[in-house]
Amino acid sequence: MCGIVGYIGDRKTEEILLEGLRRLEYRGYDSCGLAVSNLKNKLQLKRAKGRVEALADIVAAENFKGTVSGIAHTRWATHGVPSEDNAHPHTDCQGEIVVVHNGIIENYLELKDELLKKGHLFKSDTDTEVIAHLVEEKLKTLNKGANSIRAEMPEPVFFEAFRRAVSVLKGSFAVSVLWAKTPGIILSARMYSPLVIGAGEKENFLASDVSAFLKFTKKVFFMKDGEIAVLRKSGVDFFDFGGKKIQKENSTVNWDLSMAEKGGYKHFMLKEIHEQPQSVENTLRGRVLPVSGELLEKELGMTAAEIKKTGGIQVIACGTAFHAGFAGKYIFEKFGLRTEADLASEFDERSRLLEKNTLVLAISQSGETADTLYAVKLAKKNGNKVLAITNTLGSSITREADYTLYTHCGPEIGVASTKAFLGQLTAMYILAVNFAFVKGNISEEKARLCVEELLKIPRWVEETLGLERDVEKLTLSFSGKEHYLFIARGINYPIALEGALKIKEISYVHAEGYAAGEMKHGPIAIIENGMPVLAVAVSGPNLDLIRGNIEEARARGAEIIAIVDRESGKKVKAAHYLEIPATDELFSPLLTVLPLQLFAYYIALNRNCDIDKPRNLAKSVTVR
Ligand code: M6R
Repeated sequence: MCGIVGYIGDRKTEEILLEGLRRLEYRGYDSCGLAVSNLKNKLQLKRAKGRVEALADIVAAENFKGTVSGIAHTRWATHGVPSEDNAHPHTDCQGEIVVVHNGIIENYLELKDELLKKGHLFKSDTDTEVIAHLVEEKLKTLNKGANSIRAEMPEPVFFEAFRRAVSVLKGSFAVSVLWAKTPGIILSARMYSPLVIGAGEKENFLASDVSAFLKFTKKVFFMKDGEIAVLRKSGVDFFDFGGKKIQKENSTVNWDLSMAEKGGYKHFMLKEIHEQPQSVENTLRGRVLPVSGELLEKELGMTAAEIKKTGGIQVIACGTAFHAGFAGKYIFEKFGLRTEADLASEFDERSRLLEKNTLVLAISQSGETADTLYAVKLAKKNGNKVLAITNTLGSSITREADYTLYTHCGPEIGVASTKAFLGQLTAMYILAVNFAFVKGNISEEKARLCVEELLKIPRWVEETLGLERDVEKLTLSFSGKEHYLFIARGINYPIALEGALKIKEISYVHAEGYAAGEMKHGPIAIIENGMPVLAVAVSGPNLDLIRGNIEEARARGAEIIAIVDRESGKKVKAAHYLEIPATDELFSPLLTVLPLQLFAYYIALNRNCDIDKPRNLAKSVTVR
């Protein structure tokens, strides 16, 4: 996830852009940059590694005169490490066309190959740079045999070149382009990444979200996929990718600035909960079909021969990432891959006992967690290969590990991890299916069926999040409670642990996650009248047993909140039901965790807790 901003008008362009970037820093902040143009057809481009303030210092030392338009970017690296060279804007060979982009261009390697053959010179490792060269190439084609067009009417030619370029891009993008020869227009297009246009008086704006320009205008046009905007000082025109002009209705935004930064949500945590359909889609994108074993080689550089040589899997991680890894143990084992899961902070002694052909799977959203990094070092010292699953490009764990699989969930700001957890789970399903296929544990048909099921998950996640109002209402009668139990069996046991962790960390109440079958061995003693017990009871092999465990808790006065699907809901007796879409139990953790995240969020909200920055915690735990 990155942030883009654009401005055209009479104000000091560079200042408007910097202000916009500061508002969008929550979308990523490993590097940033801006390009402005003046009426003398001159572009000025500045980039910096690090935060927007580093760029602001560079801009302050520079002489920007007569600027009339500009675009800017704050980056959260996906392709290429965070560095000045990889920071946007990116340029064509002549340095005349500049581009900022949020999203992932999936076919950039093919496009880059073609452009290299045509003599284009690339200066970065990013997917974005192909867009600048592609526009340059399209301009060249359009001008062939009609050299006069460029001088006489560069704007229509520029538009056509841009239109043709975005039409061949695959993947997700909100992209904006400036051309030195046409300082009076900015072109922008959207496909699956957010883009909004702000309409002012003799000035216009564009951005990844309205917070970037809300101070100047509340009149906005929300761009849809497949639309192009042409911004001039005097107004904005809209077109489809076929070049046909379209009419768009504007809207008036009533948010204040802090609301806007969070996309209208009260907290980053809630925003991130709602981003989960997209996160899962991002983790899956380009990685599921066909299941051939090539994916592991392409993504990880792990050959089929290496995979066949691996013995068991050892997961190491902390907190929520550990819960994902613990669910991973069940996932991998369902595919016949023997797996252990350990807390990274407890791994010390065990590391020496690992068999050499055990693949260590280190999971960390930030890639900077000290306990996990230390455990990775121990595993390496023991001679084991390490595969990291992380959300953060260029993070420390990627440098320590032999292989890395990125979850591509976008920055997670709320301390309570939500969308990263779903991304980690999704990554493990991808790995499990591919490993099992390469090792011959499952047939091609079985692999295909699993992938088909996985592809449905984003839609089901969306549907499950529709429970929000029910959960919100439900929490009103529980906010005063100081003790909660979360129970589940099998693959959902780690989800019970995660539900308990979520509520503990943001609501400061006591909660325990238990394997439901363990209750009778001790913990059932704490159940008394009115104690809330959240039970995951979805259809599948574990249903009959968990029904019995729920009955045992009910008999002792527990107030049961059951996470069910339509069929299991008919069989389970509970005080309250939260119904999720029915899926194979194997994939159910991707859905069962969602009502628990929402439950924790609303309990914390009702208790007036500082949800995004809970007491005593930090987003990245860099001490052991
Ligand atoms: O960045 P990591 O995934 O390595 O972080 C691990 C834990 O610190 C983290 O998941 C923590 O438990 C979260 N605050 C839980 O919501």
